[in-house]
Amino acid sequence: MVILMDYLQILGFGLIFVISAILLKKKSRAKLNEPPLVSYKFPIIGHTFDYYKDVQGFLAKCRDEYGEIFSLYMWGTVQTYVGKTTYSEVYKNHHTFDFNKAMEDIMPMHHFLNRPEGFLNDIDKYAREFMSDLDKFAERVQKNLNKSYNEFIGDGKVIRSPLKVIQQIISRPIAATIVGEELCNDNEILDSFANMTADLVPLLSFPPILNFIYPGLHQKFLIFKFKYFNNPIRTHRSIILSKIITVINKRINDKNRLRNSWKRPDDILQELTERFMIDENTVDIDSVADFIINFIFASVHTTSFIFTQCLYDYVNNPEYHEELLEEATSIYNKYKDTPYYTIDKIAEMDKLDNFIKETLRTNINATSMFRKTVSDFTFLSGYQVPKGRTIQTMTQHIHFDPKSYGPDPKKFNPYRHINSQSTRPERDYVAFGIGKTVCPGRFFAINEIKVAMHFMQLRYKIRSVSGNRVEPIVFAGFIFPNDEGLIFEKREDSVIQEF
Ligand code: HEM
Repeated sequence: MVILMDYLQILGFGLIFVISAILLKKKSRAKLNEPPLVSYKFPIIGHTFDYYKDVQGFLAKCRDEYGEIFSLYMWGTVQTYVGKTTYSEVYKNHHTFDFNKAMEDIMPMHHFLNRPEGFLNDIDKYAREFMSDLDKFAERVQKNLNKSYNEFIGDGKVIRSPLKVIQQIISRPIAATIVGEELCNDNEILDSFANMTADLVPLLSFPPILNFIYPGLHQKFLIFKFKYFNNPIRTHRSIILSKIITVINKRINDKNRLRNSWKRPDDILQELTERFMIDENTVDIDSVADFIINFIFASVHTTSFIFTQCLYDYVNNPEYHEELLEEATSIYNKYKDTPYYTIDKIAEMDKLDNFIKETLRTNINATSMFRKTVSDFTFLSGYQVPKGRTIQTMTQHIHFDPKSYGPDPKKFNPYRHINSQSTRPERDYVAFGIGKTVCPGRFFAINEIKVAMHFMQLRYKIRSVSGNRVEPIVFAGFIFPNDEGLIFEKREDSVIQEF
């Protein structure tokens, strides 16, 4: 009996201790001077429905009432939103506002590939290193782009779902850069390049309703589903693996056989092979494949989206056609006796660069550059956010700021960017991010979109099937290219003699 009493006493003290600890923790949390939490009507649901009904309108209303930093209760958790001034504190304090941790919540890639946490963290370093000399890729990008145009548009065509076709067009030059010239004409590889991200996105964009039950449950569900059920990456991975094994083995044999006369291939596959060499004849091919998959995720979808948006902007703004064509024709005539444009020649396409930059500026999502805090943080305003908080940057607030872009900031006007390059991150232009995580593939992407637009204009006249303006689709704060068809009509007066 005495033993039972002792036991109950210890249990009682234990309970008091645990409850006090929880209360104390809550109290210390309560001490944080958090940004205002926008008021809401329904518990648990919070702002979720009001937000998705009209993302841009809702965020603008919150900014009017609460200022440019506030919190919303979304999908069962509190998220903090920062606007055009405060966001600089987020990207400058990248040790606290973690990019990889935030990505894990929506796309836990290392889990999908059965890899330990942090396995893919070097992707930015690799992208920076491998893409530092773009002249290596210039010729093959142009050659393969024109090959794609011949195959998919030829002497002119009506393209019903432009984004899908653009993804295929763009895949070949990107594949030539990533897996090399041996594989860039392989139909199975090209299919994986074009479709892998598109196969994955619908599975990832399922609304995180499970988080209403318990924050983080959605991520656990995704991991479970990808591990035991539908994982589209698995099929693409095995295709990529089966193709690169042959090429890597052949390259190793050639290198051993030819020694000093071996010509090292200039592509990302070779760079990764050298990074994951176990000894001079053995390579960790699985790791090479996993990084290739991540290069595909980072490059194909993004570049195809922007190129497609750019085509619609071109169709919607015919007042710029004449001067763009003039620039393209004069550059073509100047260099037509050289086999391809080097990077410094592509840099002469200034008007086109301004045009693409305006596409990037005006087609920005309502929010992006999200982060997760790894410790409590105090903003200069005195507001504080706790560890584990998701932070969203209101990117349209930055890109449509009248102080930077005048009284009509949403109007498409490439002249805004004279003398300001599309690849340069600026306080009021973050299409490629800014700070530590700024996109390392932006120079490659812009060069590719520039040559794609250059040859497109020289080869074809382009208009929409309806003959009208074609606006992008806005859904849940995200901007998607429209699906309306485009007509590509061969220019009979083209300066390019032979396609
Ligand atoms: C038009 C095309 C592209 C756009 C609009 C774009 C946009 C972006 C943005 C906004 C970020 C920063 C995200 C953030 O800070 O939250 C980013 C990061 C990144 N991008 Fe791109 N990107 C494009 C093409 C590419 C290409 C071709 C590659 C080539 C591999 C690439 C590789 C990456 C990587 C690896 C990161 C992560 C950087 C890090 O972890 O520090 N991107 N991109």
